[in-house]
Amino acid sequence: MIGRAKITVIGAGNVGATCAHWAASKELGDIVLLDIIEGMPQGKALDLRQAGPVERYDSAIIGTNDYKDTADSDVIIITSGLARKPGMSRDDLLVKNVEIVRGVTEQAARYSPNAILIVVSNPLDAMVYTAWKASGFPTHRVMGQAGVLDTARYRAFIAMELGCSIEDITALLLGGHGDDMVPLPSYTSVAGIPVTHLIPKDRLDAIVERTRKGGGEIVSLLKTGSAYYAPAAASVQMAEAIIKDKKRILPVAAYCDKEYGIGGYFVGVPAVLGKNGVEKVLEVPLSPEEKAAFQVSIDHVKELVAEVEKLGK
Ligand code: NAI
Ligand code: 2OP
Repeated sequence: MIGRAKITVIGAGNVGATCAHWAASKELGDIVLLDIIEGMPQGKALDLRQAGPVERYDSAIIGTNDYKDTADSDVIIITSGLARKPGMSRDDLLVKNVEIVRGVTEQAARYSPNAILIVVSNPLDAMVYTAWKASGFPTHRVMGQAGVLDTARYRAFIAMELGCSIEDITALLLGGHGDDMVPLPSYTSVAGIPVTHLIPKDRLDAIVERTRKGGGEIVSLLKTGSAYYAPAAASVQMAEAIIKDKKRILPVAAYCDKEYGIGGYFVGVPAVLGKNGVEKVLEVPLSPEEKAAFQVSIDHVKELVAEVEKLGK
């Protein structure tokens, strides 16, 4: 790509504003921050712009309430919607967030018909489906962020357990962004050494469980909302893979039809991300136990999508 990429972030709350922050600090392109609240995205964008001379980035950052300003975006990150409070599951957000995500996607897609959408709003897998339907985009240009965050949590917990660098840990996780997600110790290694050689089973089981409940752990600490630094870093890593056509293999909520026999749903799987969006879904062999756990998660995603369908247009 010659010239700068244009990145629109819809929803300038905790996750959205932090996405703009990470994207600017990586100088990924020019950034438009859009929210329904008047003045707030403009204020945050101006503040971020004024950090440029200190942090040495040249990204132009504007805040707006008008979709015209988002025209011809290359990547659109959708973070608008309600976030969890203590005692709420991600699924409790569905009815309100379907309405919000549908509305913002329709408007954004009209102004940027060639964009790639990264959906972050919860319940994630159902919101990706909602955005796909509302955009009319081909499946490879619509995806959801969950697996990069969930795997990052899992990797952070393993590094904390071993007292080693997070740089040496690679891991894979499948399924929806719910407490039934499937971290895979069989595909987790530390500098090439299978993690199962380094951490006893009971400790590894506890790390898997903590990962599954990782979002809730932060909600109960924050009390007023949910996590945003790691979710935003994860979303921007996906945007970077697309903008730089890096062909990174990342766990993302991608459309799977024949893949894993899923049959037409967006579910967390390893995928190659490049300038065309999701360029390939990778299928990996799974043990019978892993398959069964993945199926539980897929069934949960299907139930959520059925709820979206019930709400109609
Ligand atoms: P937040 O409440 O800080 O920000 C949400 C923003 O969306 C607010 O500024 C609000 O004004 C805006 N908004 C609401 N309706 C809008 C509309 N129609 N048009 C434009 N903007 C609108 O919430 P936060 O913490 O940023 O979370 C945002 C969403 O992301 C939530 O649904 C949350 O559950 C989800 N999330 C997903 C994660 C993931 O890994 N997929 C991780 C963290 C959060
Ligand atoms: C998280 O996992 C709430 O989905 C959000 O932190």
